[in-house]
Amino acid sequence: MKKILITGIDGQDGSYLSEFLLKKGYQVHGIVRRVAIEDPEHQLWRIKHILKKITLHSGSLESFASLFKIVQRIKPDECYHLAAQSFVSYSFEDEFSTINTNINGTHYILAAIKELAPRCKFYFAASSEMFGKVKEGLQNENSPFHPRSPYGISKVAGFDLTRNYREAYGIFACNGILFNHESPRRGFEFVTRKITHAVAKIKMGLSKELRLGNLNAKRDWGFSGDYVKAMWLMLQQNKPDDYVIATGETHTVKEFVKLAFSHAGLDWRKYVKIDKDFYRPAEVHILMGDYSKATKKFGWKPTVRFEELVKMMVDADLAIVQAKY
Ligand code: GDD
Repeated sequence: MKKILITGIDGQDGSYLSEFLLKKGYQVHGIVRRVAIEDPEHQLWRIKHILKKITLHSGSLESFASLFKIVQRIKPDECYHLAAQSFVSYSFEDEFSTINTNINGTHYILAAIKELAPRCKFYFAASSEMFGKVKEGLQNENSPFHPRSPYGISKVAGFDLTRNYREAYGIFACNGILFNHESPRRGFEFVTRKITHAVAKIKMGLSKELRLGNLNAKRDWGFSGDYVKAMWLMLQQNKPDDYVIATGETHTVKEFVKLAFSHAGLDWRKYVKIDKDFYRPAEVHILMGDYSKATKKFGWKPTVRFEELVKMMVDADLAIVQAKY
């Protein structure tokens, strides 16, 4: 039975990826922080339903020793490195810890694999944030990087580390350049979930307004459940490589807002207030990915489009809020 190690298993992507790999019959191990194991009810809500089927190990991206020990114990066949400080906005507030944790964490896990499990296939969660200041048009695997945040900078470094471990040490290491991907399991700080959760609370009479920043930013939003399949497919190819995973469509935050409110029968203009505190010191104005290499190499295509995604998230939040209050 193949052994899998997932860092960030308790996040949105980690939870969908675990479900997907369990169905394939893999033995799934995950690294989480000790605080999460001590408070599973709150911290492990996304993987509560599969806790009996997976094995959790406590470790920290900041500690090479802890990652080394876990890799030594498991000797995984595949490793998906998803853990990171992934909130772009927060990376401006705490740039040192974002850069240290994200870059060192990736470096530590790669170094441990090289030493202890050199045949382990490695997936790095790179990001469309690396493209940053893009001009109009689609971004592909050859588009230049111009990161606009400490988070983006940390992902460019992780991308380069992954490529270098492939080229210098022959590790089967792939970069998934994933564009924004969402779901009902998205964290509440990200704009999509912030919107859909607020819509549900407003609909139920529990809230009266939603404060947002830049409504003109454009993102290529896909469904996390689709994207984790692409992660796995990358590691099943004959050669390691880097791939863009996206939908090829771009929409403004305002379009997301309008659709989410109207799906719940609400007029967004009555509730949405612009708050400069949510603007970023440097913004990524537009992202739109060209995923044709992934289609050509392993037949990957997104199955959930923008409208379906927004409605899925609003419906899920309405059900959650209704059940809770
Ligand atoms: N979070 C947030 N909150 N974003 C807002 C708000 C707000 O109140 N108002 C406007 N926005 C805008 C942001 O300025 C940004 O342009 C856009 O909404 C999306 O913000 P996020 O949902 O926070 O995601 P992100 O695009 O910064 O980053 C996400 O996608 C990356 C891939 O491109 C994260 O998941 C990253 O970890 C990921 O790498």
